[in-house]
Amino acid sequence: MRDTLNRQIDYMRLSVTDRCNLRCRYCMPAEGVPLIAHRDILRYEELLQVARAAVALGIDRFKVTGGEPLVRRGITDFIRALKALPGVNQVTLTTNGLRLPPLLDGLLAAGLDAVNISIDTLDNAQYQAITRSAHTADEVRAVIRQCAGQLPTKVNVVLLPETAPQRIPLARLAEGLPVDVRFIERMPIGAAGIDADEPVHINVIDLLRTVWPGLHPIDVRRGNGPARYFSAPELQGCIGLIEAVSHSFCEGCNRVRLTSTGFIKSCLCYPAGTDLKPLLRGGADEAALCAALRHAILGKPAAHCFVQREEVIEHKNMNQIGG
Ligand code: GTP
Ligand code: 5AD
Ligand code: SF4
Repeated sequence: MRDTLNRQIDYMRLSVTDRCNLRCRYCMPAEGVPLIAHRDILRYEELLQVARAAVALGIDRFKVTGGEPLVRRGITDFIRALKALPGVNQVTLTTNGLRLPPLLDGLLAAGLDAVNISIDTLDNAQYQAITRSAHTADEVRAVIRQCAGQLPTKVNVVLLPETAPQRIPLARLAEGLPVDVRFIERMPIGAAGIDADEPVHINVIDLLRTVWPGLHPIDVRRGNGPARYFSAPELQGCIGLIEAVSHSFCEGCNRVRLTSTGFIKSCLCYPAGTDLKPLLRGGADEAALCAALRHAILGKPAAHCFVQREEVIEHKNMNQIGG
């Protein structure tokens, strides 16, 4: 369906859990976050009910997110069921990759269309510091290697000041493998906040042109997200920029989000939305769910307000939203 600004909403991000096997510094506060009780997380059947209503409104592509979606038991069966819903054209996954190796074959058989894997540095010690975990960047690199060539694979790199020397090495992943490497501006979402002196915009492309002078913008859609892509003759994959803060791609926004507790968020930046859980648990039928979803979509804000940082009013943490 179209919203009040005539934007076609055809993509939904489904957060299946707030839990995660990492504690990325920009995603969760140092003390961690109180986990949502299991009974408050939507059951898979409830998620599928929302997906069916979304399909009825013209949403045909779904992104499964978390927390870390692969820590939820039964995720492969859920993805199979989601992909099998009549009218669903695409199901993709955004993950930190750590749980992927034993699940990949099953996910491919279930019909998973593409995967985005997060890695902010190739340096093991730095990876451990950023993710506050004992896992290593080498583990994630191996997973990226395993996925590349088996399904469309993108690498998500959140730009942090301390990882500046890592930008060229990370981009080189697209040289050796058929993967897109996307650099993402950090959004001031949730309790993790952002330092006032941290630059909003970082000119990654000029930096990468010192290595690949032929890096040029391409006008090709490579997913449903807000990334702008660049290509160079030496690179197998593309370089992507997700200028989530410094630029507004809101006039072309195509999405709504469902949090793991069943709240439809109409924009990443604001708390506005509609709670579907009372409907789901109160026996509402598909028509009632569609009406609630339509209401949320019609209430979609025109644009984010990340640049006026003090006005950012979403206080949920990213692990509760799914990015
Ligand atoms: P695909 O390219 O189709 O895989 O989608 P995507 O890039 O949206 O997926 P992914 O889950 O990998 O998200 C990448 C980054 O984009 C994350 O940091 C998200 O938080 C951010 N992002 C996704 N959608 C939006 C949006 O509507 N607004 C803003 N500001 N950031 C977004
Ligand atoms: N700003 C930008 N991207 C973020 N992600 C998590 N928190 C933030 C943030 N504050 C990214 C993750 C993952 C995707 C779902 O969102 O690194 O790649
Ligand atoms: Fe987990 Fe992703 Fe948050 Fe890192 S950014 S703690 S991987 S949910």
